[in-house]
Amino acid sequence: MRHEFESILCYLNKTHGFDFSANRYSSLERKINNRTAFLKIMDAQSYIRYIEAHPEELITLIDLLTINVSRFFRNTLTFELIAKKMLPAMIAEKTKTKDLCLRVWSVGCAEGEEPYSIAILINETIEKEKNEFDVNIFATDVNQKILQKAREGIYHFDQIKDIKYGLLCKYFTIKDDTYILSPKIKKMVDFSFYNVIDPRTYVPPESVFGNFDLVLCRNLLIYFKAERQSIIFDKLIRSLSQKGCLVLGKAEKMPVKFKKYFSKENNYGHIHLKYS
Ligand SMILES: C[S@@+](CC[C@H](N)C(=O)[O-])C[C@H]1O[C@@H](n2cnc3c(N)ncnc32)[C@H](O)[C@@H]1O
Repeated sequence: MRHEFESILCYLNKTHGFDFSANRYSSLERKINNRTAFLKIMDAQSYIRYIEAHPEELITLIDLLTINVSRFFRNTLTFELIAKKMLPAMIAEKTKTKDLCLRVWSVGCAEGEEPYSIAILINETIEKEKNEFDVNIFATDVNQKILQKAREGIYHFDQIKDIKYGLLCKYFTIKDDTYILSPKIKKMVDFSFYNVIDPRTYVPPESVFGNFDLVLCRNLLIYFKAERQSIIFDKLIRSLSQKGCLVLGKAEKMPVKFKKYFSKENNYGHIHLKYS
C-alpha cells in the first residue's frame, strides 16, 4: 500500500537523512516491495523495526535505492577541458604562488569512476610537467556497498568504454572481461561515506577543512528537489577555495541565486569558476 511505502521513505529521511523525494516513486515502491517480500515482511512498521535491529539492512536498502551508474571520463568534453585547460592553469598558478597542494572532492562518486578519472588526469599532468605536487582527492557517497567496490578498483567494459586506448593500457591490467586499476592511481583517492545533505557539516570530515581547488558534483543534483539543491549549492560554494572550480553534470543547472558566486567557463563544459 502506498502509505506504507511512503512511511519507509519518511523514516529514511527523518531518522537517517536520506532524501529520495525527487526520485520516481513507482521505481522506489517496486524496489522496497521486492525487498520486503523477499524478507517476508508485510508492513512498514515491521520493516522499520527490522532495519533498527539489523543495521546491515540500512546499507542494503540504500544500495537498492540509489542510482549508481557512472563510467570513466563520462562526458568526454568536460574531462578534455579539465585536462587541457583547468588543470594546467591551476598547476601553473599554484607553482607560481608556491602552493604545491592540489585538493579535489568528488561528491557522489559511485564506484570511483569519476575521482579515478581525475586522478589519472592529474597524474598525466604532473608527469608531463615534472611537478612535485601533494595531491588529495576525496571521494564520497552515501552507498557503503559501492564505496567498497570503489576501493577495489575493478571494472567491467561499460565503465571503461570511454577511456582512450593509451590511458587504458597505461593504467589498467586487463584480465578476461575485467579491468583492474593500477595501485598507483588507487592510492591517490581517499573514499568515505558522506551524505551531502547532512546539515551538520559542509565538507566531508575526512577532508578536515575543505578548501578544494576542484569539486565535481555531477548527476546527483537531479535526484533532489529545488530546496535541497540549494542546501547542496551552499555547501559546494563553502567547500571551494578562492578561484576553485565546480563541475556539474550535463543536465544540471545552477540555481539563479548562486550564479553571482561564479563565472561560467563556457556553455558546453558545465564548469563554473568561483570568483575570488
Ligand atoms: C548517478 S551517480 C553519479 C556518479 C558520478 N558523479 C557521475 O557523474 O558519473 C549518483 C551518485 O550519487 C550518490 N548519492 C545519492 N545521494 C547522495 C547523497 N545525499 N550524498 C552523497 N552521495 C549521494 C549515489 O549513491 C550515486 O552513487
